Amino acid sequence: MMLTATQLYHSYGDQVILSGVDLTVQKGELLSIMGESGSGKSTLLSILAGNLRPDRGSVLLDGKEISSMGERELAALRRTSLGFVYQSLNLIPTLNARDNILLPLLLDRKDLSRGKEKMQELADYLRIGHLLTAFPNTMSGGERQRVAIARAMVHDPLVLMLDEPTGSLDSRSTREVMELLRELNQSRGVTVVQVTHSADAAAYGTRTVTLHDGRLIES
Ligand SMILES: Nc1ncnc2c1ncn2[C@@H]1O[C@H](COP(=O)(O)OP(=O)(O)O)[C@@H](O)[C@H]1O
Ligand SMILES: [Mg+2]
Repeated sequence: MMLTATQLYHSYGDQVILSGVDLTVQKGELLSIMGESGSGKSTLLSILAGNLRPDRGSVLLDGKEISSMGERELAALRRTSLGFVYQSLNLIPTLNARDNILLPLLLDRKDLSRGKEKMQELADYLRIGHLLTAFPNTMSGGERQRVAIARAMVHDPLVLMLDEPTGSLDSRSTREVMELLRELNQSRGVTVVQVTHSADAAAYGTRTVTLHDGRLIES
């Protein structure tokens, strides 16, 4: 099992967000987590990625318990094993696409020559190879999304997690991005977890679960 979450609980003050979430993600799945706005999807994804500690419960990533890891161990795990695409993308406006994509490797002082090959290959694959010297503010929403996906993939993570990857895209860019994610999943075996409130985007998944009243139900 790639990822196993058991009995996750989380509240903000007295607002209960998660109340007993159980989830397993198999290697090679493209899992869609659906739910209405405010249902706790981003909270759940942050917990699965080790960005947020749950009040209670356990998250096993590739057999390692991440809820009990220290900050340094967690940071290292996020840099090596997880690819995360934030809803706001978090691209650096003063860096061009190439440097945005290479950023995780720069931060990790990894061997850059292999990383640059990987970056080029991913950029071509994601059809942004012609945009590597362009800056985020000159790109379309779909192009920015693909730069963020390339950045999340450049270190070959075990799991790619995306928060509302099509939330700000029109229907054509939504199709483009989702078809690329499906291709990454099917041809390259990348395990993908996306959260979305869009049934259209969710339908690209190999499986869909829905977050409702603090729990996940198979749908
Ligand atoms: N850091 C936070 N502090 C307090 N409340 C929060 C925080 N983050 C999210 N919330 C609240 O928790 C609820 C669930 O948020 P979120 O996980 O972002 O849901 P979703 O991603 O499904 O829209 C919302 O009501 C939101 O306002
Ligand atoms: Mg959200």
